[in-house]
Amino acid sequence: MSGEYDAEYRRAREEPRAYWAEAAAAVDWHRQPQTVLDDDHPPFTCWFPDGELNACHNALDRHVEAGRGEQTALIYDSPVTGSVQRFSYRELRDRVARFAGALRALGVETGDRVVIYMPMVPEAAIAMLACARIGAVHSVVFGGFAANELAVRIDDVRAKLVVAASCGIEPGRLVPYKPLLDQAIELARYKPEACIVFQREQQPAELIAGRDLDWRELEAAAEPVACVPVPAGHPLYVLYTSGTTGQPKGVVRDTGGCVVSLLWSMHKVYGVAPGDVFWAASDVGWVVGHSYIVYGPLFNGSTSILYEGKPVGTPDPGAYWRVISEHGVKVFFTAPTAFRAIKKEDPQAAHLQRYDLSGFEALFLAGERCDPDTLGWAQEHLGVPVLDHWWQTELGWPACANCRGIELLPVVPGSPTKPVPGFVLEVLDSQGRPLPAGEIGALVLRLPLPPGTFTGLWGNEERFVKAYFSTFPGYYETGDAGYIDADGYVFVMARTDDVINVAGHRLSTGAMEEVLAAHPDVAECAVIGVADPMKGQLPLGMVVLKDGVDRDPATICAETVALVRQHIGPVAAFKLCIAVPRLPKTRSGKVLRGTMRAIADGAHWKQPATIDDPAVLDEVGSALAVLGYPPPRDA
Ligand code: COA
Ligand code: AMP
Repeated sequence: MSGEYDAEYRRAREEPRAYWAEAAAAVDWHRQPQTVLDDDHPPFTCWFPDGELNACHNALDRHVEAGRGEQTALIYDSPVTGSVQRFSYRELRDRVARFAGALRALGVETGDRVVIYMPMVPEAAIAMLACARIGAVHSVVFGGFAANELAVRIDDVRAKLVVAASCGIEPGRLVPYKPLLDQAIELARYKPEACIVFQREQQPAELIAGRDLDWRELEAAAEPVACVPVPAGHPLYVLYTSGTTGQPKGVVRDTGGCVVSLLWSMHKVYGVAPGDVFWAASDVGWVVGHSYIVYGPLFNGSTSILYEGKPVGTPDPGAYWRVISEHGVKVFFTAPTAFRAIKKEDPQAAHLQRYDLSGFEALFLAGERCDPDTLGWAQEHLGVPVLDHWWQTELGWPACANCRGIELLPVVPGSPTKPVPGFVLEVLDSQGRPLPAGEIGALVLRLPLPPGTFTGLWGNEERFVKAYFSTFPGYYETGDAGYIDADGYVFVMARTDDVINVAGHRLSTGAMEEVLAAHPDVAECAVIGVADPMKGQLPLGMVVLKDGVDRDPATICAETVALVRQHIGPVAAFKLCIAVPRLPKTRSGKVLRGTMRAIADGAHWKQPATIDDPAVLDEVGSALAVLGYPPPRDA
């Protein structure tokens, strides 16, 4: 039937309270909310303010109580360790209840913060759910971040406890987490009371007596505890994401909005039913991992897959097809970069022939712009709808999508389709005036935002208001630029700030510049995101050396590369750096990063009228050429 999307969208827009009250009825509340939305002090809104619930109860206990106890809740598939492990809803509930008991026994109370620094092991999900069970607020830190980034997060969130694993496993190398953890605690001004370490056999860690505790021993000795109901506005988690500076933003997600929105989206966006197998190939350290590896599928009574591996090399570019066929995945979600990696190694998709994907129904892509080539390749070889969708850590769930659970709309390459019911998207010019169809401007969302979107930045109300709600009063500023065409399809083109997207990972060039600027020989620097055929973008640094420095510039650049890896982590993928005599600037001293990016990408660019000295652009062009930018057209 057609018109269903339009009808749902209109209803959510015109009667948001009634619409979301209906969605909230699918949730198990300890105390039913009587008020749907408290919007008295925008942008500080609270959905279901007088409701009480527990996220872990909604993820696990309610399904066990409803007779789903023996159904598989979680499949841990780990090609890097050669293991597959299944947890039924009952088994997962029991392990979570016991680990929650261990946390409680260590004095973790409702509202206390727990940092989780773990690779893709089931214990990461267990730790998250255990926090939720007792109302503790988890903050997961991605394993590819360095000790310094971990320290910044421990300090900002004031973690009472850290839960970590002894090591992670990247193809071809072990990543020892424990030295990074020790270093982070050394660096942190705010010292956690204890660290729980999950020992992995691939590389157990030495524990520090009096501070470190062994996960298995604690879990074995613990008494299971029940779920603690919390107010809907109680934070379920804080997740740090990159902003324009080195200080990451602690995105706060409330419990009620999160449960309501994720449950709704499993049905309406992804078209996944209880009992279906859903797989999001991401990492628990990102918002996709929070929403669609752990919480969403479990709130929905589905089976989720926690995959510790890569799209290629673990062991081959058929890895995703194996998982989909072996576990009966119905709907799969990953980032376009993963498909570009597969396509590069297996352009004809020969590995696909080895697997039966007859139960596979849809592929969702997000995390970065989906280029039409990748979309076309996936469509051709998979023969299922390939659906781009757009969202952000702050939003928590998709803001634009082809909602296959409502009505599958025609796919338009390059577009994540249309706004999801609940999100009122507009395109504004720099003065805040609405732009006509087809014209590029700032993508903004009208307030109030729907349930499940962020309710603040941890401990920083001022930054919350200033960064997102001050440029366009009455709107949330997404930080993305794009347009809406005459048919209502949305096109997301680029960031409007200094955030870049590398292999689907959101990174701050500002944070990298802070590291480069700290090098003793560097006077000035700029980091830009340059186009990369596989990762979408790569960071590229340009440094101006201090007068009188006579060391080899290449050595200094190599040192800056090592510094970024050491301070931010390998995930920054910062490998390109070159010394330049000067940086191009406007007469008022603003570095012309956009122009440098256009030169590096071989895109059309115009000399900015405000440029101080046009000759600098030639110098930059010569330096970029040394690094191979712009790449030859047929590369
Ligand atoms: N722990 C430690 N190190 C990690 C890590 C982790 N969890 N994740 C990545 N790294 C390291 C990598 O090993 C790599 O190190 P190297 O410089 O020594 O090679 C570096 O960080 C950069 O990683 P990445 O940008 O992911 O590049 P890659 O070449 O290892 O892999 C892809 C490229 C495309 C295969 C990979 O990015 C991928 O699978 N992406 C899928 C998309 C995704 O997960 N997106 C998340 C949001 S949906
Ligand atoms: P993150 O907060 O890490 O999820 O990153 C969010 C950012 O990634 C967005 O602001 C966009 O810039 C980009 N992004 C995510 N999904 C898409 C998409 N489908 N199309 C274009 N850009 C996207």
